[in-house]
Amino acid sequence: MTGEGTKFAGAPPTRHAEAASREPEQLGGSMHVGVIGTGYVGLVVGACLADTGNAVICADIDEEKVARLNRGEIPIYEPGLEPLVKRNLEEARLRFTTDVAMAVRESDIICIAVGTPPDEDGSADLQHVLAVARTIGENMNGEKIVVTKSTVPVGTARKVKATIEALTEHPVHVCSNPEFLKEGAAVDDFMKPDRVVIGVESDYARQALAELYEPFVRTGKPILFMDIASAEITKYAANAMLATRISFMNMIARLCAEVGADVDLVRRGIGTDTRIGPSFLFAGAGYGGSCFPKDVKALIRTLNDYGVDAGILQAVETVNEGQKRLMLEIATQRFGEDLTGRRFGVWGLSFKPETDDMREAPSLVVIEGLLARGATVRVHDPEAMEVARRYHLGDRVTYCDQNYEVLEDADALVIMTEWHMYRRPDLQRIRALLRQPIILDGRNLFDPSRMRDAGFEYYSVGRRAAVPSREPVAVN
Ligand SMILES: NC(=O)c1ccc[n+]([C@@H]2O[C@H](COP(=O)([O-])OP(=O)(O)OC[C@H]3O[C@@H](n4cnc5c(N)ncnc54)[C@H](O)[C@@H]3O)[C@@H](O)[C@H]2O)c1
Repeated sequence: MTGEGTKFAGAPPTRHAEAASREPEQLGGSMHVGVIGTGYVGLVVGACLADTGNAVICADIDEEKVARLNRGEIPIYEPGLEPLVKRNLEEARLRFTTDVAMAVRESDIICIAVGTPPDEDGSADLQHVLAVARTIGENMNGEKIVVTKSTVPVGTARKVKATIEALTEHPVHVCSNPEFLKEGAAVDDFMKPDRVVIGVESDYARQALAELYEPFVRTGKPILFMDIASAEITKYAANAMLATRISFMNMIARLCAEVGADVDLVRRGIGTDTRIGPSFLFAGAGYGGSCFPKDVKALIRTLNDYGVDAGILQAVETVNEGQKRLMLEIATQRFGEDLTGRRFGVWGLSFKPETDDMREAPSLVVIEGLLARGATVRVHDPEAMEVARRYHLGDRVTYCDQNYEVLEDADALVIMTEWHMYRRPDLQRIRALLRQPIILDGRNLFDPSRMRDAGFEYYSVGRRAAVPSREPVAVN
């Protein structure tokens, strides 16, 4: 027996073969949950599960991260997460530790939420997931449910199960429960999911997870139980579909730019078709982040492994790689290949608003390209500057605390992330600060004709460039 909370089956440990057919005898009440890996996913999952009354131990091998969390400091920017973590820490439902083995021993349900970065060949690198599986196997002290929440290729749950079972006689129920939260809205997404997908192969695990998720689906959103392989594929299919919509619209945007059409009008024209729907149809400077790029690559790899043509997804990637360079292309078309002596101001670094995540951010491609051509770059982001400085750009750019500061004497403003604070700026102030009133907008924040009337040379994605033809009119 591990903790004081609910145990799903009172019987003593059985052999693996028997485990699949057993049913929980006693459900309801607080559960003992271990979450291994305390990054964007693990921290949100741990805090939300603690908030519904479970006893949660979050374990991570990153000592600095755990020390900060134990002081109530949140190492990432995620709206709503800090009060949730603090409250559950204070009320002792949530603990943080570097002792993964202890977290395993004390938990009945163990969620694996470690990173699965791309390997050299694009496949998901499973070394962290399998390392955790070994630690679980070595520390099994009773029947446990192991849930893969990390995004892992089809067949991984089987490998996790085999790894654990090779090290223990205690029964283990391995499930696949992919996480669909969006950075920037992660707490809300976990608390009010569109659906919960769970791949299971035993009633014991099925009932325990139904119980665990019950507080989050009270409004009637479904828990979709399925076989494990289907659950594993569902996560990749979801991300690949979303990335496909983005690249599709970016391809259409390229055509709009060529013929002088407006991709925003096309977006509305198709998004109102109920078969298509309005989400994920915005053209822009390309997708980034820790999920779409790596998950598209990993799915291509899996498709190749099984001899299935991955042509659609290869095109999705190619379009996106090109799209991340679009603002750089516009800059070099406007100012020439040699940007020595030019100065650019950049608004937005994170791969999307409401996060400090810089992984695969399109801003990095543009900034590196500008620097490589001899330009100087001043940047602003409300949350991501520290991460950018520490892990990506170092002291090669100037970081400005205030967004208008980046504009001083700059040849152009480049907008890379659609943070709310950039949506209604003081246009007269921008015009006064810039060396020349040129804006390259990678997120289509403004109306081109309004920008032209305000005296700007304005370039955006999939829309006609706006060039002032007369004296600027007063705006703002
Ligand atoms: N970030 C997202 O929006 C998101 C959404 C859905 C799914 N996912 C998936 O969830 C997984 C985690 O993503 P993330 O963004 O939270 O990653 P992350 O890099 O932010 O966090 C991973 C954490 O795991 C820890 N870790 C690594 N090896 C460990 C080990 N052996 N034992 C304990 N801790 C270990 C790391 O120190 C790190 O803190 C990935 O598979 C990702 O694809 C991410």
